[in-house]
Amino acid sequence: MPALACVDAAVPPPGYAFPTTWDGSLPVPEPFSGGTPDTGLHPLLHPTSPWSTDLSASLYKVDGWGAPYFYINSAGNMSVRPHGAATLPHQELDLMKVVKKATEPKSAGGLGLPLPLIVRFPDVLRDRLESLNAAFEFAIQANGYRSHYQGVYPVKCNQDRYIVEDLVEFGAPFRFGLEAGSKPELLLAMSCLTKGSPDAFLVCNGYKDEEYVALALISRTIGINTVIVLEQEEELDTVIETSRRVGVKPVIGLRAKLRTKHSGHFGSTSGEKGKFGLTTAQILSVVSKLSQVEMLDCLQLLHFHIGSQIPNTALLADGVSEAAQIYCELTRLGASMRVIDVGGGLGIDYDGTHSGGSDLSVGYGLDEYAATVVQAVRYVCDQKGVNHPVLCSESGRALVSHHSVLIFEAFSASQPASLELRQNLVYYLDQLTDDSRADYRNLMASAVQGDYDTCNVYAEQLKKRCAEQFKDGMLGLEHLAAVDDLCELVAREIGAAKPVREYHINLSLFTSIPDFWAIGQLFPILPIHHLDQRPGVDGVLLDLTCDSDGKVDRFIDGRSSLPLHELGSIEGGGYYLGMFLGGAYQEALGGLHNLFGGPSVVRVSQSDGPHCFTVTRAVPGASCADVLRAMQHEPELMFDSLKRRIEEYSLGDTKACAISHAFYSMPYLVYGTHLSGDGMVSDSEGSSGVTEEGSGYDDDDDEWDMMRCLSV
Ligand SMILES: Cc1ncc(COP(=O)(O)O)c(C=O)c1O
Repeated sequence: MPALACVDAAVPPPGYAFPTTWDGSLPVPEPFSGGTPDTGLHPLLHPTSPWSTDLSASLYKVDGWGAPYFYINSAGNMSVRPHGAATLPHQELDLMKVVKKATEPKSAGGLGLPLPLIVRFPDVLRDRLESLNAAFEFAIQANGYRSHYQGVYPVKCNQDRYIVEDLVEFGAPFRFGLEAGSKPELLLAMSCLTKGSPDAFLVCNGYKDEEYVALALISRTIGINTVIVLEQEEELDTVIETSRRVGVKPVIGLRAKLRTKHSGHFGSTSGEKGKFGLTTAQILSVVSKLSQVEMLDCLQLLHFHIGSQIPNTALLADGVSEAAQIYCELTRLGASMRVIDVGGGLGIDYDGTHSGGSDLSVGYGLDEYAATVVQAVRYVCDQKGVNHPVLCSESGRALVSHHSVLIFEAFSASQPASLELRQNLVYYLDQLTDDSRADYRNLMASAVQGDYDTCNVYAEQLKKRCAEQFKDGMLGLEHLAAVDDLCELVAREIGAAKPVREYHINLSLFTSIPDFWAIGQLFPILPIHHLDQRPGVDGVLLDLTCDSDGKVDRFIDGRSSLPLHELGSIEGGGYYLGMFLGGAYQEALGGLHNLFGGPSVVRVSQSDGPHCFTVTRAVPGASCADVLRAMQHEPELMFDSLKRRIEEYSLGDTKACAISHAFYSMPYLVYGTHLSGDGMVSDSEGSSGVTEEGSGYDDDDDEWDMMRCLSV
């Protein structure tokens, strides 16, 4: 058997090529008879059928998860209906036009922002908020409910300043408020609500110390309708003591630990073993203590939270009914109850199935949700003769998920291994050990018979055996490659291996889609253009991080790959993909793995001018200097030491300038012609002053234009 030394010498004779020089020692691979090879493509992608945008909509389930905000327009681009169902045809926004505006160099009339990019649509936020309020208003009227709905936005879902400010502004007519779960969230909620309705609630959840409670109490003295919700029994003492010290009477809520349990991932919050809330005994103890200190009138709100993504209205009705009973009991015990806060949980249909069968979908919409809450509370209160409470919900995911789209680019893709046999394949196979040659013969025989299982067994055996012999130095790289090629060829011919390509994306999963990695959450992802063309290949998405978890290989619809277009077929520019429905949680949870920071952000409003939209804010993502600073590095000092080294080596300013520029560019890859260097240098939120319609960008803005180079 040839050892490695022999392989070196085993140079094939000139012109040696499979199969003409076949010596008969091994069977020649020939076409298999074992069934039709599977192309690995979705049935919709059968290569002979004509293609259309409707087929793309069906393939990517756009109508299911996208309505009423996202659809595919006749140009084959993803489009946004910023006012939902009320959007007029001329108000629809072509996402590709927004991307072009954001990324094109300033010299070409763009904003020069690097990708990845988050596009925010405040109009969508407004529509979500108005739709939620309308759903409750309708349910209240339809059921003769004798109080009103007054929701709060839990800022933890996305604390972005402009989202919170928008929601407070859009929500003022509905007395819409905010929920905070920590001291910084409380500070931001307090300051935002100074511009909101005076009746709006500021619901204080989360663990509380004296400072948190004092802050909440002070907020009441400046006209904010703050409610301190007890998450733990011990917090009551802090509230009583701090209120005496500060001299402000609190409005108190309590979070009940319901017995109703939600079984999905998000349900760990609920049930008797849930992390949060007060047990029945603790609730009674709070009532008794408040009564002793003559503060039972302060207890006015009952809160519960079954968990995010409540899958169906039956479970919701169960939880709300249980809570309504507690509410009525608290009234009976003498508390001045007036609000029932049903927490979060209003879900999103990420996969468009409207099924409620998994964490990816819910089997109801806003209207059914609101009707369920109203009916359940009304039924219990009427039974117990208790006045109908104000209804509050802490709907976060449902408010902000739709309002933003994450855009990123696929910059390269793996090419499928050629199906042609490597030229000298037989030559190398012929040099394998007897055992391996026997595996090879058996592999071919079972392939010809269409016995796929046996085929796989021999292929695995052959590969394993050869790998071991390679480790022992008996085979060369060429032998291993020949065996791999052969097994790949056989697998493809029998339909066992689907040619899934790897698309490299200019994104960090850990920064921008953390829930995919952390809890297996799936979001709709698809190309945002070329949707009038057949996506001819299936691919998975590999991110930029040096981490094998940085890979999107699960998609909605149970797919392990995504139909994509050949990069080579994309003319004039990059290949852009969008992740939709990711407006909640992803930005706040995202980390700095490999020091990739957040994407650039543009805020885009529908406008009636010729361009249909106005970019009202444009901010480049975190620079290398920003992310280094976040890890306690000091970019200025780092640069100084590098500059000194450049001087010691007598190198010119150009090198120092390049290093300086790198500090102020985003960590993502820069390639292609559509990005300009100047787009990468401003890190100043609010500096853009982008208000002009369509073209939007104010070129005179010095701050935006300022090249923030470190001194060279
Ligand atoms: C107490 C509380 N309220 C509200 C929410 C928001 O829930 P959702 O995003 O499902 O509306 C959460 C999130 O888990 C929560 O823990």
